[in-house]
Amino acid sequence: MIHQTVIFIRRYANKVLNIPMPSLISGEGELKSCPKLLKQVKSEKVFIVTDKILTSLGITQQLIDILEKEQFNYQVFDQVTPDPTVSTIEQGVEDFKENNCDSIIALGGGSVMDCAKAIAACVVKNKKISALAGMFRVRKALPPFIAIPTTAGTGSEATLVAVITDPVKKQKFTVVDPCLVPQFAIIDPLLMVGLPAKITAETGIDALTHAIESYLSVHATAQTKPYSLDAIKRIFINLPLAYKNGEDLKARTEMAMASYYAGVAFTRASIGYVHAIAHQLGGYYHIPHGLANAVLLPHVLEFSFDKACKQYAEMAYAANLISKDESIIVAAQAFVQAVKDLNLTLNIQSSFAELQSNDIPLLANRAVKEAFCDYPVPKQMTVKECESILEVVIEI
Ligand SMILES: [Fe+2]
Repeated sequence: MIHQTVIFIRRYANKVLNIPMPSLISGEGELKSCPKLLKQVKSEKVFIVTDKILTSLGITQQLIDILEKEQFNYQVFDQVTPDPTVSTIEQGVEDFKENNCDSIIALGGGSVMDCAKAIAACVVKNKKISALAGMFRVRKALPPFIAIPTTAGTGSEATLVAVITDPVKKQKFTVVDPCLVPQFAIIDPLLMVGLPAKITAETGIDALTHAIESYLSVHATAQTKPYSLDAIKRIFINLPLAYKNGEDLKARTEMAMASYYAGVAFTRASIGYVHAIAHQLGGYYHIPHGLANAVLLPHVLEFSFDKACKQYAEMAYAANLISKDESIIVAAQAFVQAVKDLNLTLNIQSSFAELQSNDIPLLANRAVKEAFCDYPVPKQMTVKECESILEVVIEI
């Protein structure tokens, strides 16, 4: 009852909340737009947040070459690791200040973008990230911020959230504020061609989960639903193509746009239990976020089937997974089956070797608590029901 009341109030608050969208620049080779944008915001020194993998692949150097050609000052911070931690953020804040930077480029996947958002928020608020955890604690414009995704999945370039890991509690927490939406997003599919097939698959299913959970949300609106459906349709067509041939630029572009649109949808309509459970598996065992979502998604869809059957059918029709002549129940079943089939096509595992049955009560408790009053899900889950889902995905 409390959950439903809070969700009801938030539903109306959401409608009046002004969540900005980034200025979007997309296309092959658009990385070259960075100097123009930095000139536009009158930046004198940009702080590049990235990771060592992108540096070793030469992608960071591509950006540096573009900036040096235009004689831009920059400082590289490539210390970001998967599931960014409080200490990495603190190190980034120190580097940003010591080097007198005045703008940020986040070049990387979800971890990099979330870490960069957190660094920017700490800089403007002059506070530690733990003090900004929760909703609407930033309330101050970030330094000029350019998000450049190198994976198609997280959608963080379009969202108001940063997910941070507390390694001591082995738990993730979020910073949520409209000020975290990047000022600019550059989507350049050329940056994604070298992404390994496994990462392409897992991040792609993360985007699919954003699109599905935002569509199922009771906060979904006439504005968010078309974004969710557009993303779902693009992903079912293009994820297998990008997985099979990483150099398929058309499929890479479609996946990058799907990820962005899913981000636009879920930043307004929110997410659901797949994410609530996946966050626990990420925080506790460092299971990659997209992989956790991929394994859990069919199970959570089956759990909500009776309450969300109509929406499942709508997603199946919109993605052309089944003829519109078929009944709602047949279309809904086809949708769940299509998600399972996609996992099989992408060779995604169906269980977790890391998951221990002794940990399940704690993880289920944390997942249900994370969703409580926050995630506008079509059907509420009890701790026992969450435990049952986790028990099914233990590797035997
Ligand atoms: Fe996600």
